[in-house]
Amino acid sequence: MPIASNDRSYSSDDDPRRTGAAGAGSAAAALGTGSADGATRIAERVQAVPGSGIRRFFDIIASMDHVISLGVGEPDFVTPWPISEAGIRAIEQGHTHYTSNLGLLELREAIARDLERRYGVEWDPREEILITTGVSEGLDLAARAIINPGDEVIVADPSYAAHAPAIVLAGGMPVSITTRASQGFVLDPKEVEAAITPRTKALLVAYPSNPTGAVLERATLEALADIARRHDLLVISDEIYDRLVYGGFEHTPIASLPGMKERTITLGGFSKSHAMTGWRVAWAAAPSDLFAGMLKIHQYAMMSAPTVAQYAALEAVRAGEEYVVAMREEYDRRRQLMWRGFNKLGLACAEPRGAFYAFPSVAQTGYDDETFAEQLLIQEQVAVVPGSAFGAAGAGHVRACYATSYDEIEDALERIGRFLHYAPLAK
Ligand SMILES: Cc1ncc(COP(=O)(O)O)c(C=O)c1O
Repeated sequence: MPIASNDRSYSSDDDPRRTGAAGAGSAAAALGTGSADGATRIAERVQAVPGSGIRRFFDIIASMDHVISLGVGEPDFVTPWPISEAGIRAIEQGHTHYTSNLGLLELREAIARDLERRYGVEWDPREEILITTGVSEGLDLAARAIINPGDEVIVADPSYAAHAPAIVLAGGMPVSITTRASQGFVLDPKEVEAAITPRTKALLVAYPSNPTGAVLERATLEALADIARRHDLLVISDEIYDRLVYGGFEHTPIASLPGMKERTITLGGFSKSHAMTGWRVAWAAAPSDLFAGMLKIHQYAMMSAPTVAQYAALEAVRAGEEYVVAMREEYDRRRQLMWRGFNKLGLACAEPRGAFYAFPSVAQTGYDDETFAEQLLIQEQVAVVPGSAFGAAGAGHVRACYATSYDEIEDALERIGRFLHYAPLAK
């Protein structure tokens, strides 16, 4: 099967259906999943997914004191109090049962109104909006609802660590398109079009980007939409960072472009914008046939998203705007400090336009990204994530999250400066 360049473990050469799962035995052994006679009991598509490249770092971090973590991709803010209070009130009022499989109608209606206002797109809350247990679930539902075995889905490299695995676990084949620092880590429509085969089912688009902070210009998004329309492709659009865009940059939802709503599954949520990662609540908006497919999986696999979290999310949509704005302003301050700081230290870093990550190059230090991250952690107790954890094209970069306090970022930059000065290989 022709696929674009990709040295992740699910390239066609490693396809367990063709090769007998090269390397899968050792993954299974590491996980302790082999049966007594050494044969694995784990399904092939699960074996085909590599373990998390980030986990090893978190294991090291857990064993250390005084670490400044720029590693974890979640807000340092706690959930704004009125939102938490709405959750507490829901418990007090006995809202401790399942909701409709689709989620609370009131919440779906509030989200529909909010999306109409912000995106200019009308989704029917009764048959086009589903409340999910995080965008994580929405991603899984979207992939499983549309992918037939062997279908290809185009994804950017580097990309959020769960994107390609969601496709593999649904029986599909991710086709990675290399994005480059020199082009701001955005998908090049020409390369996307060149990767399309008769098996291509969908594009997975995810901007603002984790890990690069890239935001798509409207013209690029229009070119991608044009490709999707001409080749009759579906689009899964992970827009979890839609509220976190800075400076003069803007986020355009792909579903708002002509002819796109009917072929796009849009995923959004509350984890990042409202500092609600632990509540596990999000939404998916999709045309009714795709919605029905996703709902079928959701109702058997999940039943309904957490009820208390849905009441909190309702408050977030109704009254959360001032908190979103305040947190975004603070992230912006930290963003400026971080990317300018990296450049001053000689670590070339493009301006991050959205999300809350900077993605500087560490190539000039003489270290590869894994060694850089490991040595920085050991010598100066600063945690960043190696860029290659997000795909081969992330190599030579590290991801640093600025959803941590301004003071800590200042301290981290000072430590990184010291590390670069004394590190044996650094210039
Ligand atoms: C791009 C992207 N999509 C989805 C998620 C998961 O979001 P949720 O907490 O809603 O499951 C993350 C979390 O880091 C992310 O970065």
